[in-house]
Amino acid sequence: MKAVQKEFSRFADTYAHYNIIQNRVAQKLVDECKDRPQRILDLGCGSGTIAKKIAWPYEKFTGVDFSSQMLELHPKDDKIVCRMGDFNEETLFEELVNDEYDRIFSASSLQWAVDLDKTLYQISQLNAPISLAIFTSNTFKTLLETAGISSPLRCADEVSYLLGQYFRLETELVEYELEFESIEEIFAYIKKSGVSGGRNLLGYTQMKALMKNYPTKSLSFEVLFARN
Ligand SMILES: C[S@@+](CC[C@H](N)C(=O)[O-])C[C@H]1O[C@@H](n2cnc3c(N)ncnc32)[C@H](O)[C@@H]1O
Repeated sequence: MKAVQKEFSRFADTYAHYNIIQNRVAQKLVDECKDRPQRILDLGCGSGTIAKKIAWPYEKFTGVDFSSQMLELHPKDDKIVCRMGDFNEETLFEELVNDEYDRIFSASSLQWAVDLDKTLYQISQLNAPISLAIFTSNTFKTLLETAGISSPLRCADEVSYLLGQYFRLETELVEYELEFESIEEIFAYIKKSGVSGGRNLLGYTQMKALMKNYPTKSLSFEVLFARN
């Protein structure tokens, strides 16, 4: 694994910026993909961050997500297939294996796999190169430490180990730091950006105490990139 890289950004208070980190993550995955794949699979495609960033002409793009609301927002054309599917379910992969892919992307989604080992195994059975970005446990590190709770995310070493069981690949751990004007903005960001996977990490009292005691005006994110 390469040394941790750091990137710093300022938070701007517009809706689009709630996804500032996911945008950067998807951009990095696409920028580093040099083989211009023709048949692309995107697991946890959401509203289409990856599809929107791919600039080369391709044959077919299959975006899979288990949220119909997200899929509704995904760009559509005759080369894009959007399908409902849950990457925790074997049935999804039983269907996906009937097609061939030149590359499988997954940006900012696989941290929510219930059994990442099993999901990675199933991805490996699709026999295609991968470009994955998975959030890891140092995301929101200071905030979680201040609140005295442990991360719901797997640590980078564990994710790296699981990936290494099924793929020969390069990994890179990237830290992002986002600065805010106020503590309220930080909590609004956590709520609206979807980075907490829709889970309420804190109760009301814990949240109040945290807003009082949180020592910085920034949030940190840790993302493991894996590609082959
Ligand atoms: C943070 S968003 C990232 C979306 C997009 N890949 C991006 O880079 O902006 C995570 C996405 O993963 C989807 N997701 C989470 N768990 C999933 C699962 N088990 N199966 C399919 N999609 C899932 C969510 O619905 C959401 O659209």
